[in-house]
Amino acid sequence: MKGIILAGGLGKRLEPLTRITNKHLLPVYNKPMIYYPLGVLVDAGIDDIMIVTGGNNAGDFLRLLGNGRDFGLKHINYTYQRGEGGIAEALGLCEHFADNDRIVVILGDNLIEKSIKKYVDEFRRQDEGARILLKKVKDPERFGVAEFLGNKVISIKEKPKKPKSEYAVCGIYMYDPHVFDIIKTLKPSHRGELEITDVNNAYLRRGDLYYNILQGYWTDCGTHESLLYANNLAAKLHNKERG
Ligand code: DAU
Repeated sequence: MKGIILAGGLGKRLEPLTRITNKHLLPVYNKPMIYYPLGVLVDAGIDDIMIVTGGNNAGDFLRLLGNGRDFGLKHINYTYQRGEGGIAEALGLCEHFADNDRIVVILGDNLIEKSIKKYVDEFRRQDEGARILLKKVKDPERFGVAEFLGNKVISIKEKPKKPKSEYAVCGIYMYDPHVFDIIKTLKPSHRGELEITDVNNAYLRRGDLYYNILQGYWTDCGTHESLLYANNLAAKLHNKERG
């Protein structure tokens, strides 16, 4: 199993904070944002990791993380996304790295409370396909939203004006090697991006998309409000850990 952190994009919703640095290098309480997703993968037992960056500050990731010694890693792989063609485009850059292995993908601005190890273990036991994590939220229209029939997910809509449920798709995705063939078939959405929601819907159509409800807190850091929430959450979790 390999891990991929997507930390490209221009973070325009966080202007002017992101004018001179990459969103994922901004502080979240006592650590740079990128530390959190990296910690999540390492905690799940994944040590072969690729970071996709972009923009003008890509070199700063290398200066900050090096080969990942602070995380007990021997090596980190890096690649570069030009512009912001979408989450699925950024993932498409990792085909060579994935090398037909299964992958766990995490968005560089997602912060969670608890380990994802048990979901990754379930994915390992799955024959093929994909697995996503869902979380009940108060503002589903900000996210990819799952529509259910009973407890079966029947479709996912990206940022729907009228969400069909309160369950957001978290920025943690597990895929078999088929994901790269799916990405090659995608067309840009109305916001000009290759959407990860289209990838998940492709797995749904194949009857190959599984899900878990994520336990514990989850947030992204994409807006000023969610970044503030993430800072407070990180402080709370840090202080809880220290007792
Ligand atoms: O946080 C979960 C949500 O993330 C999901 O519910 C949505 O379905 C998914 O589309 C995504 O929504 P956002 O619109 O909030 O994604 P955003 O554009 O903020 O990008 C999230 C991260 O993905 C960003 O921190 C870095 C990475 N990214 C994004 C883009 C657009 C890239 O690496 N390259 C990109 O081109």
